[in-house]
Amino acid sequence: MTSGIEVIQSIEALRRTITQARRDGHRIGYVPTMGGLHQGHAALVEKGLERANFVGASIFVNPKQFDNSDEVATYPAGFEDDLALLEAAGARFVFAPEQDEIYPQGFDTSVTVDDLAAPLCGAHRPGHFDGVSTVVTKLLMQCMPDVAVFGEKDFQQLRIIQKLVQDLDIPVEILPCPTVRETDGLACSSRNRYLTEAERALAPMLNPKLVEAREALIRREPAASVSRNVIAQLTDAGFGSVEYFELRAEDDLRLLTAPGAPARLFAAAWLGEARLIDNLPV
Ligand code: PAJ
Repeated sequence: MTSGIEVIQSIEALRRTITQARRDGHRIGYVPTMGGLHQGHAALVEKGLERANFVGASIFVNPKQFDNSDEVATYPAGFEDDLALLEAAGARFVFAPEQDEIYPQGFDTSVTVDDLAAPLCGAHRPGHFDGVSTVVTKLLMQCMPDVAVFGEKDFQQLRIIQKLVQDLDIPVEILPCPTVRETDGLACSSRNRYLTEAERALAPMLNPKLVEAREALIRREPAASVSRNVIAQLTDAGFGSVEYFELRAEDDLRLLTAPGAPARLFAAAWLGEARLIDNLPV
């Protein structure tokens, strides 16, 4: 049963729904997603409900943030399941536009956050964060929620969104939500379904390696050698290339040699066809 959640496809209808909700005295919360939803997304809706009483999500597989069009075509989809999950989490509406509602013929604008988008995933996925920044700016301007929720699992993305909202004076509060994990510690991700059984068994190793690395840093081992050791251990165990395993400051994502300022360990590693990312506060 998904009858309690309103499915919206046009920006105009979205604005009507939001205007009515405001007339009814509601505070609006918004959770942008690309579908293929899991418990991490449900937690974002629940987090939104702590600060708003009319919370919705968007489901839009944003072509501008993918390096190649195959990834867009094969991105996990399951609209009915997604609706059921959102409704169970307490969402009131879902904005699920077609591509040309977001990018009509002739669309020619891009939003770029420079420094925060340079390292980590930005260094390995050219253009990715411009695509994210552009679509998130549009989604926020279309809905104009009071709060919008983003996951710490994609910490660099979260920081970039906080920055663009600040720099562009978009009147919305960005609420971070802690990473939701499977019982074995693997961060929930739409991409986990690309893992074979053997890869799925190996994948939970990433998080304990972050925990071990944090302990080594607290014992004052230098960050560079901690990273080197962990990367060797992950590849020995069967991971493909480890794109990065780095200690960085939470505020500007600068590389750190030791913990000090609020910091996080960031990891990205390939396992078969899946690119896994995770991070941990230090
Ligand atoms: P998507 O990967 O669908 O993620 C949507 C939101 O869910 C993001 O804020 C992401 O950080 C959060 N999320 C994903 N897995 C999580 C987990 N295990 N725990 C907590 N939060 C989690 O991120 C995107 O889509 C897109 O880039 C988007 C922001 C929608 C722009 O297209």
